[in-house]
Amino acid sequence: MARFAATLGVIILSGFINLTAANKDTCDLHAVVGQSLTLPFVYEELANSHVLRWTHNSTIILYRQQGKVSVGKPEDLSATGSLVLKNLQFSSAGEYQAKLLNPNGTLAKSWTGRLCMMDKVSKPQLAYICDPKSGAVNLNCHVANPQSWMFSWMLNEKTLTSETRPTLSISLAQLKGEMSFTCSVANKVSKEKSDTVRPNCKSPPPPPTICFKSKTVVAVLAGGAGLILLLLIIIIVLCICHIRIKTQMRRRDEGEMRMHSLNKRVPDSIKALY
Ligand SMILES: *[C@@H]1O[C@H](CO)[C@@H](O)[C@H](O)[C@H]1NC(C)=O
Ligand SMILES: *[C@@H]1O[C@H](CO)[C@@H](O)[C@H](O)[C@H]1NC(C)=O
Repeated sequence: MARFAATLGVIILSGFINLTAANKDTCDLHAVVGQSLTLPFVYEELANSHVLRWTHNSTIILYRQQGKVSVGKPEDLSATGSLVLKNLQFSSAGEYQAKLLNPNGTLAKSWTGRLCMMDKVSKPQLAYICDPKSGAVNLNCHVANPQSWMFSWMLNEKTLTSETRPTLSISLAQLKGEMSFTCSVANKVSKEKSDTVRPNCKSPPPPPTICFKSKTVVAVLAGGAGLILLLLIIIIVLCICHIRIKTQMRRRDEGEMRMHSLNKRVPDSIKALY
């Protein structure tokens, strides 16, 4: 029971950690270093009587009361209360919050958003390798420091919608005629395209299986011919032996017959002698 409770606890805890991690990952706004960004808080009836407070990671970055800005620059504030962030840095990331209070101290409107700072993607290098073994050309879209970047591919200026990985394999049989490839990397704030590459793979060689087959056929033919030759030699040798044995037997038979007739005759003559 205790074990079950512990397991359940771990599951709930890991679920909670996952949830908080997911919350941290969700960004409402994305920007690159050096960029300017307007935080989208809008209150059309903004008046001098309102109190407006902007915070970044709970630090007050703008405070306006009775139409007087005591924290921050008044020129960064729009007529509707939105705030412009200029020359963004990595430290500009984090949580931004706007709070607008009515003259009587109640909350009129608030806004919270998380800003994520990102690197601009760098230009990808597109390279290819012809692979006659698998009958394909393998393309590789290389970037120096790929983070969670998205890849896309264009074949003859048309986007291959299903290809989103850094590598692409196209069968050489499909590569009829001139084909041009480009790959692109993108993140939420920028996109870069590679130079165009026209793979020059020699016309698809005969499928390797046929190569194997012809070799095998030659080997089998050679082997077969050898076997047949061997069989012929054996047959010839056997025939010669057989003929020899036959002749020998006939000769012996003839000899025996002669002996027999001699024997037959001999007794007569012997009889005559005795
Ligand atoms: C604000 O918090 C974020 C993380 O949530 C951090 O990346 C950023 O550097 C912080 N900035 C300041 C100025 O505290
Ligand atoms: C405070 O002021 C707002 C608008 O100015 C009004 O809608 C709201 O009812 C007021 N609340 C109180 C408690 O006076």
